[in-house]
Amino acid sequence: MSYKIKKICCIGAGYVGGPTMAVIADKCPNLEIQVVDIDEEKIKKWNSEDLSLLPIYEPGLEKIIKKCRGKNLHFSTDLELHIASSDMIFISVNTPTKTKGIGAGQASDLRWIDASARQIAEFARGETIVVEKSTLPVKTALTIKKILEVPKAKNSSKKFTVLSNPEFLAEGSAIEDLNYPDRVLIGGDDPQAMDALIEIYSNWVEKDKILTTDLWSSELSKLIANAFLAQRISSINSISALCEETGADIMNVSKAIGSDKRIGDKFLNPGPGFGGSCFKKDIMNLVYICNHYGLSEVAEYWGKVVDINNWQQKRISNQIVEKLFGTISSKKIAILGFSFKANTNDTRESPSIYICKELIEEGGLLSIFDPKVDKKRIELDLGPELNKKDTNNINQGGWIFSNSIKESLSNADAVVIMTEWVEFTTIDWALFASTMRQPAWVFDTRSITNIKAAKKYGLNIWSVGNGEND
Ligand code: NAD
Ligand code: UGA
Repeated sequence: MSYKIKKICCIGAGYVGGPTMAVIADKCPNLEIQVVDIDEEKIKKWNSEDLSLLPIYEPGLEKIIKKCRGKNLHFSTDLELHIASSDMIFISVNTPTKTKGIGAGQASDLRWIDASARQIAEFARGETIVVEKSTLPVKTALTIKKILEVPKAKNSSKKFTVLSNPEFLAEGSAIEDLNYPDRVLIGGDDPQAMDALIEIYSNWVEKDKILTTDLWSSELSKLIANAFLAQRISSINSISALCEETGADIMNVSKAIGSDKRIGDKFLNPGPGFGGSCFKKDIMNLVYICNHYGLSEVAEYWGKVVDINNWQQKRISNQIVEKLFGTISSKKIAILGFSFKANTNDTRESPSIYICKELIEEGGLLSIFDPKVDKKRIELDLGPELNKKDTNNINQGGWIFSNSIKESLSNADAVVIMTEWVEFTTIDWALFASTMRQPAWVFDTRSITNIKAAKKYGLNIWSVGNGEND
């Protein structure tokens, strides 16, 4: 049968559900889009008049919300109503790594997928296309289909088709990625349902960029795309350590190898290790799946990508302590950047969290500034802020929140650049070097500092893949 899609419901108003549905609403004014979530606070924020209070920060997002919200884009907690009246339902809920039970530390926790499928089975009416947007272990569609088949068994008129349509957007460039995707991937076994989804994307994506495949290849391709991207970062980070030992310059090596079209120049920036909610969880999930099928060598191979990532973070915090004469007890260390990359307020799995925790453990007093991450978020990640009055007399490590680069660097023994926010690429060292306590250090984990300028004003520099600059 052919499907006529008039109304879409998206379960999950997070980093994927929010921006993805905003772009679909923008490109398809004739579709009604309802984004639903169980988190009332989040929905309140999505509906907030003051757009700076939206629950996520993404360049270009506010503009679309302003244009479409209240017209064909809505945010609601009424799951029952909108599931019941939609022709197509996207599942865009979180799929984090399990923290306990079978597969803890590796397998994906599918409880939110399970719950969403049950909500759809219960509330949907008539013929409904269910689209997996979340990143899932291969064969999850089978589980979803089984849950959806229950009402059918009760002689219900409900009919469901399940498609896989994984999302490839990156945070910080989500709107751009959604507007101009490299490809849209649709997996399924019902050609008419696939056509209905193709029709939606065809409003702005060229036909040859819409790839169709079977369900399992689609689900697996998403995990593998993330694994390959993360693998490149671990590869370049492993070589950054070798560059520091040998005197080679990682940026020159990166440019030289990236100029080969077969290798390509993207995703070859050394750094403090990859963060974000997905790379680690998706690789651990891949490791779990491989072991499940008895492919222990394959599992070990991919597991190393995460091992190198952890090692990179550990070796950076060790370098900081070592260069500051082996002790950072009671020393003030400015941390610039807390999000896992620039242009997002997301701190999930941010390398800053791990490195800050290590430095606090060593007794350092961290003064953290990030243009988009607020104090409340840092408190959730690191524990309570130190009482500012006590910071002169502390015997143990801790952190305080800073409102500016200036405040963060003032009287600091060192500054650690953790995120490549544009404002950290243009720091005026002539202004700030003299406000630091000498001998002062710059630790640049993102290779964005003007080394010559910083050295001119008497600062010592260590950067990833370059080591100490004499
Ligand atoms: P998120 O945590 O930001 O959002 C998920 C939302 O789903 C939350 O707001 C949560 O309250 C809601 N939710 C959970 N169960 C629900 C239920 N039963 N009913 C209604 N709402 C429910 O997660 P995210 O970053 O948007 O990721 C979602 C999925 O997309 C994950 O599988 C992730 O791997 C994948 N993904 C994420 C990104 C990214 O950049 N963050 C990119 C591509 C794919
Ligand atoms: C990543 C993928 O790029 C998306 O395609 C995918 O949809 C998404 O994961 C997902 O499934 O969640 P994201 O994590 O948002 O997107 O951001 P990336 O740009 O991939 O960066 C991930 C991490 O790698 C960041 O910490 C970043 O700083 C780091 N990175 C990236 C490097 O250290 N070097 C690089 O060259 C590139």
